[in-house]
Amino acid sequence: MNRDALIASDRRHLWRPYTSSEDHERYEPLIVERAEGPYLYDETGRAILDASGSWWCNNLGHRHPRIVDALKRQADRLMHCSFGGSTHETTIALAEELIARAPEGFSRVFFSDNGSSAVEIAAKMAFQYFQQNGAKARRRFLSLSGAYHGDTIGAMSLGSASAFHAVFDPLKFEVVHAPEPEDKSWENVARFIEETLETEGDQFAALIVEPIVQGAGGMRIYPKDILRRFREATKEAGVLLIVDEVFTGYGRTGPFWAVEHAGVIPDLIAAAKGLSAGALPFAATLATETIYDGFRGDKSRALLHGHTFYGNPLGAAVALETLKIYREENILEIAKERANQLERGMHQLRAIEGVNGVRSIGMVAALELGEDGYFGERGWRASRKALELGAQIRPLGDTLYLVPPLNIPQDALEKLLEITRAAIVHSLEG
Ligand SMILES: Cc1ncc(COP(=O)(O)O)c(C=O)c1O
Repeated sequence: MNRDALIASDRRHLWRPYTSSEDHERYEPLIVERAEGPYLYDETGRAILDASGSWWCNNLGHRHPRIVDALKRQADRLMHCSFGGSTHETTIALAEELIARAPEGFSRVFFSDNGSSAVEIAAKMAFQYFQQNGAKARRRFLSLSGAYHGDTIGAMSLGSASAFHAVFDPLKFEVVHAPEPEDKSWENVARFIEETLETEGDQFAALIVEPIVQGAGGMRIYPKDILRRFREATKEAGVLLIVDEVFTGYGRTGPFWAVEHAGVIPDLIAAAKGLSAGALPFAATLATETIYDGFRGDKSRALLHGHTFYGNPLGAAVALETLKIYREENILEIAKERANQLERGMHQLRAIEGVNGVRSIGMVAALELGEDGYFGERGWRASRKALELGAQIRPLGDTLYLVPPLNIPQDALEKLLEITRAAIVHSLEG
């Protein structure tokens, strides 16, 4: 099919995520023919830098040869079988590797296939844990303002990204959300959590947070001391701390897990996206032995949850190879250098008149182009210009962000920063 025919058929039959019907009609999508390293290639062979990491998951670049090889080897052996009543060597090996990478005290992994599920499983674990261990009153959840934990109804309830989910408010279960940070200080947020847990702590099962960086909430970075206070307050109140590392994990913000910035050890971790290097849908919820102990017993005490493709061997093979690549190719070290380059680049972009602020941590960088939040148009204008110039940058409204692969070559990152500059200047002129 030629380009026009593909686009016509896409418009006729597809219903793409986070795409309005107007935009579907108005803007031509990028047709991705293949991908390699930090680049997507369109049907004409044009290289386009994948600056949003194919939705924040492409941490090692596209089609890393070792990932492709691991996938082929696994496909030759076993592609899928149920994970209830059977198990497989690759998935067992992955669990061992993940536990070796997990904070102290973690000993159990529950595999799934997307970030929203990894979060919901953590929430269900927390809830059921208390229900069947003598604390039935602990039915409530606490979460942060600006939080995003996924698009299923449970994950939406835990999140508070109202621009995305407001229409579903009547369907959500009740979650107490901390207030917005005041004057960019998170002091009031920490105080709210502390006071709520001091006075009503015995009603709560868990506090869930994205550690250090709130992704979809606008790439908002908060101080590590605040995360420590969340941990102390939850511990004091006997409430579980769930950290959603779906985006922040696997070196995206610097250390392997973002909680390491603060030396915090949570009770449950949700992981997905870059866990399988953005190659296949795969996810995990990590738990401590204490939580697992709360599920010991007969069928009535089991976590009765499991979608068809949970623990899929292809995903497990890719995730296992991903962890080996991190170790053997010193990905975190490489990312440190690239993060410095990214930070320097953002500092220079800060000087452009009309840029309201820049921030970065590890391989996450963001800048503000306006005051209109998720529905702001400047980010999209910059995004369309960037695509013309050779980079796919998906904004969050007026927040433009870059989350390239952790191992992006130095010259490719330089090029991305140049394109970003030109796109921003264009968007501010328009
Ligand atoms: C922090 C966080 N949690 C959960 C999710 C949901 O992951 P998925 O889209 O794989 O369901 C996302 C997705 O962007 C995320 O950023």
